[in-house]
Parts: sequence; C-alpha cells; structure tokens
Amino acid sequence: MERTLVLVKPDGVQRNLIGKVISRFEHAGLKIVALKMLKPSKELAAKNYPDSNEWYTKVGERSIGTFKSMGIDVKKKFGTDEPVQIGKTIKGWLVRFLSSGNVVAMVLEGNNAAAHVRRLVGETDPLKASTGSIRGDFSIDDVILGNTLNRPIVNVVHASGNSQEAVGEIKIWFTEKEMLSYVVDTDKVYYKEW
Ligand code: CDP
Ligand code: MG
Repeated sequence: MERTLVLVKPDGVQRNLIGKVISRFEHAGLKIVALKMLKPSKELAAKNYPDSNEWYTKVGERSIGTFKSMGIDVKKKFGTDEPVQIGKTIKGWLVRFLSSGNVVAMVLEGNNAAAHVRRLVGETDPLKASTGSIRGDFSIDDVILGNTLNRPIVNVVHASGNSQEAVGEIKIWFTEKEMLSYVVDTDKVYYKEW
C-alpha cells in the first residue's frame, strides 16, 4: 500500500477550502492515515522543497517557458535568465508563503496513492489544470500573475510528485507514531481478493 503527502497551503486554508479539498481525496477512496493543522516554521517549509539544482532547473525552466510564450522579458523580471537562479528565487517565495499562515498536512494511503493524488490535484499552473481537478476548480491564479507579484502560484495544495518523493516528504511532516492504521469499508471494495 502506498502513502503520499498533501498540504492544504495557506491560500486554501484562508479561502475555507479545507473540507472541499479533503473530500476530493475521500470520495476517490484514499484513506487519511494522518492529519494536522500547523503554522510551519521557515525551516520546515524549506525542507519541503528540494535543495537540488535539478529541482531549481525544473522550476526555473518552466517559468522561463511561460514568460517567453507570453512575450515577457524574463531577465527584467528575475534579473537573470539562468534557470537555477530563477528556481532559487521561486523557492524563496515558496518558503515565505508556506510559513505565512496555517496549513493542513495529511498523509493519504491507497493503491498508487501518489499518482492518483497528482491526478486529482491537477497541473501546477491552475490556468493549465483540468476542470474537475482541485487546482482547476479552486484557483484562478497562473504563473504570470503570481511571479509578476513576487509570489509563488497560489494553487491551493501541495502534493508529493511521486511515491519516492512522498517517502521523504512524509518524514518531514509526520512521525511514524502520528500515522494510524485502521480498516474502512473502502478497503473491502478495493483490496479484498475474490
Ligand atoms: O506543486 P507542484 O509539484 O505541482 O510543482 P513544483 O514544480 O514542485 O513547484 C512547487 C511549487 O512552486 C508550485 O506548486 C508553485 O506554487 C510554485 N511555483 C511557482 O510559483 N512558479 C513557478 N514558475 C513554478 C512553481
Ligand atoms: Mg512538486
């Protein structure tokens, strides 16, 4: 059985979307095995995003691509067109944002939990996220609006990128003791051998 991490980010909490977000996962059949609300410290928020050139490059390149497609000067905005530097700027915004207010952290369990959660959450940029996904339904932000205002995209939730990332991220937010094992009827529907 796979586990994955989800955070309702400060924008989701401020907009009273906690219940709506959680219900999307519940309705799909994922089991909540840990749940809490907290105001993360800057240190905790920083741990949630990798300090690796690979991650900075990925995030930076995506920003560059979006700005270019809109005909906006990346260098003017970020003072550089180096993906790693841009990725680092965005991580700074993310740390400030995530530690700016309460978040709800949860661990969800189920078959292919990480992939199903990403599907339910939708694309990073709400402008590209499908209708029916959390980011597609609950946000009208996009890369240009957010980054122009010197803040990260406010896209309601964070979700681990894959099951491998999830293992590390769950350890950042929860102890083993905080995760509960219990049986629900959904288990019978999905996991019982016939
Ligand atoms: O959250 P997700 O895994 O979909 O995306 P990510 O590439 O891991 O980036 C983490 C977070 O950085 C996003 O959810 C956005 O809030 C923010 N971000 C941003 O503000 N501007 C970008 N150009 C890229 C990411
Ligand atoms: Mg990510």
